[in-house]
Amino acid sequence: MHVTLESRWSCGQCHFAGGKSDHLRATLDRVAAAHPRTSSEGQVPVVRDLLVHLDRSAGRLGTQVRTGLRDAVRSGRLPAGFRMPSTRALAQSLGVSRGMVVDAYEQLVAEGYLTSRHGSGTQVTSACAAPQPADSPATSPVVPITHDLKPGVPDLSTFPRGPWLAATRHVLSTAPHTAFGYPGPSGAPELRSALTDYLGRVRAAQVRPEHIVVVNGVAQGLSLVSQALRRMGRGVLAVEDPSSNRQRGIFDTHGLELAYAPTDSEGIDVAALARTGARAVLVTPAHQYPTGVVLSPSRRAELIAWARASDALIVEDDYDAEFRYDRDPVGCLQGLAPDRVVHLGSTSKALAPGMRLGWAALPAAMIERIHDLKTHADLGSPVLAQLTLVRMLETGGYDRHLRAMRAHYRARRDAVVEAIAEHLPAARVRGIAAGLHLCVELPPGTDESATVIRARALGLRIEPLTPMRVLTPGPPSVIIGYATLSPDRLRAAVRLLARSVLP
Ligand SMILES: Cc1ncc(COP(=O)(O)O)c(C=O)c1O
Repeated sequence: MHVTLESRWSCGQCHFAGGKSDHLRATLDRVAAAHPRTSSEGQVPVVRDLLVHLDRSAGRLGTQVRTGLRDAVRSGRLPAGFRMPSTRALAQSLGVSRGMVVDAYEQLVAEGYLTSRHGSGTQVTSACAAPQPADSPATSPVVPITHDLKPGVPDLSTFPRGPWLAATRHVLSTAPHTAFGYPGPSGAPELRSALTDYLGRVRAAQVRPEHIVVVNGVAQGLSLVSQALRRMGRGVLAVEDPSSNRQRGIFDTHGLELAYAPTDSEGIDVAALARTGARAVLVTPAHQYPTGVVLSPSRRAELIAWARASDALIVEDDYDAEFRYDRDPVGCLQGLAPDRVVHLGSTSKALAPGMRLGWAALPAAMIERIHDLKTHADLGSPVLAQLTLVRMLETGGYDRHLRAMRAHYRARRDAVVEAIAEHLPAARVRGIAAGLHLCVELPPGTDESATVIRARALGLRIEPLTPMRVLTPGPPSVIIGYATLSPDRLRAAVRLLARSVLP
């Protein structure tokens, strides 16, 4: 059935009217992009009209209304959060009875496509925003994610807005005009100097300001290092198995070939790494991603010995090292071999990933190359955020925030560990000493992917470990990011996980 939608949106400043379906799709896209659902000025797009074109000669008008609206939501033409017109207004504009529209709304609420709340009308459910697989039955319910344990995100509600605002205000009122020129591709000298102190103090790094390049997160650091490795004739990068599958796209983009070295309870297997023949390796020594293992002292020594013996480079992804709970702090690898290690870190876990602010501490031999690549990438990272971070570091605001966050996340981690012991006693929890995620080894014989699918059907999102493995099989496991939910909600999430685990 061909359905045409027509809509008019108003934000008080302008007005759009749509016609036939293709045009409408473009119009809705344009309007959605131009008008966020709720802006800081409190503007909310107001739906004045929404037309479902009906074929009156075909009969079954009620079904046509229901199907037309459902298709519009499923295809994404009505975006998540879209405020549906009142049943009276829609019935009037479609020329059908109000009861027909009420029935359609009720059916779509029951199916999970719409949400109806007293006082705020009917809206498209946020979980419906993603397009559905073409073959899923038209009536399959879309279960919203109620417990999201996807790793990688800190608790965004704890961003230190007050201290950051005070630091920004200080920078804006004291920095000379010249500070707002191009920052230089390596970053603001003040930040490189402050990071030298910070990384030496907190991570036992051995750096000088001229060895630091400020980057837009570890991701950009990896991108620049990948390009540099290719140009240095090191086209094969060894990575840990398992490791972050999201990062593999970066290496692929820059034409690096990957080799895989297995990890065990002490971290990367250095003998297996040596057998790959690679002359560069990416490791996560402070908290292996995803298993959470801390690289043991003997493996650290072996890894550095391997790098020296084979003229190799170690890329150290220090992505969540600020958070440690039950163990003494472990210094970074870079501090043991500054000539062999590229150290990458960022504020993504300590503050928020949206900052896109990080650093690379480089061996002397790579500085010029990375400096050039950063110049060609973007002429340097935004300067205001850099100077604000300097102020946070100098006033102790950054350290105070981290101290508070360690206690905050520790309580969350404890809640997960205790709940797993209670509700899933046959599971083994790994990697709990540091970071913002842990690894749950499911009871032997558990079907990992079926568990993840069942969990999703209950509104729980967890990450399976198997897609992060390449060559080395391992026990069925899932990764739990515990940073974003309160201890109570984490306990509820673990109960859902326990319900999802079937042998
Ligand atoms: C293994 C790993 N490294 C690094 C990062 C952080 O990347 P960025 O600093 O670009 O935000 C993440 C984020 O989740 C990660 O999982």
